Amino acid sequence: MKKQGLILWLTGLSGAGKTTIAQGVEYALKKRSCLVEVLDGDIIRTKLSKDLGFSKEDRETNIRRIGFVANLLSRNGVVVIVAAISPYRAVRNELRRTTENFIEVYVNAPLNVCEVRDVKGLYAMARAGEIKSFTGIDDLYEEPLNPDIICYTSQESIQESIARVIAELERLDYVP
Ligand code: PPS
Ligand code: MG
Repeated sequence: MKKQGLILWLTGLSGAGKTTIAQGVEYALKKRSCLVEVLDGDIIRTKLSKDLGFSKEDRETNIRRIGFVANLLSRNGVVVIVAAISPYRAVRNELRRTTENFIEVYVNAPLNVCEVRDVKGLYAMARAGEIKSFTGIDDLYEEPLNPDIICYTSQESIQESIARVIAELERLDYVP
């Protein structure tokens, strides 16, 4: 293994499978004795970004904060797995430019599939107008144009997605 420390940045709609894939990759890498930390948007928002909502400005601030912490960790050899909607291409690209060993993973599931899954009931609330500015319903999601990895979670199993992420990290010589 040549490289140490990286940021594995999972972007995608709510309900696409970011958290599940992040946790699966975390488990697989810990078994290989890697230092791993998961930064999940949903959790970050209860602590570090507790003060933020879902306006464009607040989402940008949230993503930059997560990127900042991810960079601190990754430069010290940690494999940082970020699971955040991170809807804006420009901010993701900014992070790619300004951090080392940044790998963008597009957790890709069609909106209608995420909406049918509706794991947390948020899509129903968004459709009912009980949540405003919900990503994919009445707020923007900009797909990555050139992601390093794409996980098609409506077509492959979570285990397949996780295995492909790990295989790509092996191929790039990031993990043993
Ligand atoms: S962002 O856009 O990257 O700052 O979002 P993130 O920090 O990843 O937070 C997304 C989680 O917040 C919940 N939630 C919402 N998501 C999108 N839009 C709106 N309006 C919203 N309100 C609450 C939701 O549980 C998201 O978690 P995931 O895991 O993506 O479903
Ligand atoms: Mg999640």
